[in-house]
Amino acid sequence: MNLFLAVLLLASLALAKQPNILFILTDDQGKLVGGLDTMKNLTNLVAKKGATYNKHYCSVALCCPSRANMWSGRMPHNTNVTNVEPPYGGYPQVVKTGMNDDYLPIWMQKAGYKTYYVGKLWNAHTEENYDAPFAKGFDQSDFLLDPWTYRYNNARMTRNNKKPVHYDGSYSTDVLSDKAAGFLDDALKDPSKPWMLTVAPNAPHSNGSHDPSKGTTWFGEPVSAPRHKGLFENEQVPRDASFNKLIENGVGWTKDLPALTEKEIKYIDYFHQQRLRALQAVDEMVGRLVQKLEKKGELDNTYIIYSTDNGYHLGQHRMQPGKNCGYETDISVPLIIRGPGVPEGASMDVVTSHTDIAPTFLSIAGVADKDMPKDLDGKKIPTTKDESDKHDRTEHVAVEYWGGAVAEGIYGLISPKSKHGFHEENTYKAVRLVSDDYSLYYSVWCTNVRELFDMKEDPHQTTNLAKNPKQANRQIAKHGIPKVMNRLNALILVLKSCTGDACREPWKQLHPGGNVKNLADALNPSFDQFYARQPKVSFSSCKTGYLISEEGPQHFNVFGGAEKRELNGQWEDSDAVGEDYDHEDEEGGDDN
Ligand SMILES: *[C@@H]1O[C@H](CO)[C@@H](O)[C@H](O)[C@H]1NC(C)=O
Ligand SMILES: *[C@@H]1O[C@H](CO)[C@@H](O)[C@H](O)[C@H]1NC(C)=O
Ligand SMILES: *[C@@H]1O[C@H](CO)[C@@H](O)[C@H](O)[C@H]1NC(C)=O
Repeated sequence: MNLFLAVLLLASLALAKQPNILFILTDDQGKLVGGLDTMKNLTNLVAKKGATYNKHYCSVALCCPSRANMWSGRMPHNTNVTNVEPPYGGYPQVVKTGMNDDYLPIWMQKAGYKTYYVGKLWNAHTEENYDAPFAKGFDQSDFLLDPWTYRYNNARMTRNNKKPVHYDGSYSTDVLSDKAAGFLDDALKDPSKPWMLTVAPNAPHSNGSHDPSKGTTWFGEPVSAPRHKGLFENEQVPRDASFNKLIENGVGWTKDLPALTEKEIKYIDYFHQQRLRALQAVDEMVGRLVQKLEKKGELDNTYIIYSTDNGYHLGQHRMQPGKNCGYETDISVPLIIRGPGVPEGASMDVVTSHTDIAPTFLSIAGVADKDMPKDLDGKKIPTTKDESDKHDRTEHVAVEYWGGAVAEGIYGLISPKSKHGFHEENTYKAVRLVSDDYSLYYSVWCTNVRELFDMKEDPHQTTNLAKNPKQANRQIAKHGIPKVMNRLNALILVLKSCTGDACREPWKQLHPGGNVKNLADALNPSFDQFYARQPKVSFSSCKTGYLISEEGPQHFNVFGGAEKRELNGQWEDSDAVGEDYDHEDEEGGDDN
């Protein structure tokens, strides 16, 4: 390129204004029973004008850890914000880990953006601690504060770090909508400066509060705005193959849940309807904000991104309403993007996760790869057809979780008679794999039981193939279940403590030669011994936070040469740590 062209190119780059970002982040919406199709404004103004990502997942199915994952671009085990309250999570842990000084809002400001935030930022961000210290990274903000965040008519909010204001009697999504519209007006005043506005309503989270200081919890059905009462009266949770059915060969706490009674099923349908009603106010807000952008002529230079923190289950596998699980209901989440260059009405098949959100936003802001923050564990989500065609596709999403599973609703935790309200042993590591040839979910729980679902054959996860792998009369990618489990065990072994490239290209850690890029490659019979001899993913106890000492072997063997691997600064012989493990000699789902 000659000098003239180079100068011209630079000049035009300087002139091209960075695009704005409007990020709408709901709470517990999920995709499978998430009511997206009842949101007409979202459908018409965002989805039909942009791209819907069919294989987008959260990395952890719980609000605060999931938000930490999104705002940092780091895997939950790297943020070490692994729960909703101290000592392992909530705003105090966000501050303690340093995330409040080093995360996406601050990076966006450095990239030249004005940043605005309305709604829920963190759990355990309260009237008592909102100023100790203030949440950083925002030009203007108005945060919902705990334990009032989930009270639909009793919001407590701090605007620009001032003394919290009470909104008793006002519907919280409408309060947020007004505030978001106001911030948008402010952002659009100076057309030379790009902005990022996040609106994070509490809808459609269950109504109530969890107040650790008082030891009280109440999570009833969500509350709608009065004008949406009576909608969706005939709506039901889909009665798919998993609804009110136990998993065949189930393990862990989900294996012996009692059948839901007629009364409970009726309530679950009502709970579902209340979620849909609560989402209508969000949908109106979407319409209002898009209209405003259009009126100000900024719609074409704005990315509108819609998602939620984690999914939700309602009666599947007999579970009371809730999240926290690795099942598809809980980890498959909406991602819809409208914006410059995003193909209209496109349906994207790339496998992506919330770990990719931060690099994607930074890349939209024009931050070059070399200027990205260190230690990001994800990669940019392709938003144009060209990017999507060129995308170096991965097929895996790492999923992890620490802590119990809470049953919400009146037959869950808040019912004093309920024996099924809180399931303590719910810590796990898992992986979701999606390719043209297979679709799998594999998990290892903290009680060392395992689950494997072949979701090409069994999309609703009705049969656990890991319990009796040798008996499972099924082939996956033309191989028997034990061999597949050996590979998935090694994959989780890498992912459960990965950073950076190891999270993006885990197979390369096992095969530095680069000849194994996916499960299909790894299933080559010449690797049978190698995978059979990997240490086994295991836990020594169920903890509510990331304590390495409880999380079993931290080593994996590398193919070729000595079977040892440096981790934590030490060389160790693989034979010395963890027993040799051959899934073929063991029933993977042993309940011990
Ligand atoms: C994560 O944070 C907890 C609580 O602050 C701490 O006890 C634990 O050691 C941390 N884990 C790691 C791996 O740093
Ligand atoms: C919402 O939850 C609170 C408890 O936190 C409860 O007192 C209130 O009655 C609930 N509201 C509705 C409309 O269910
Ligand atoms: C879409 O948004 C507009 C503008 O706020 C609103 O008037 C309308 O009711 C919304 N549509 C639906 C279906 O909610």
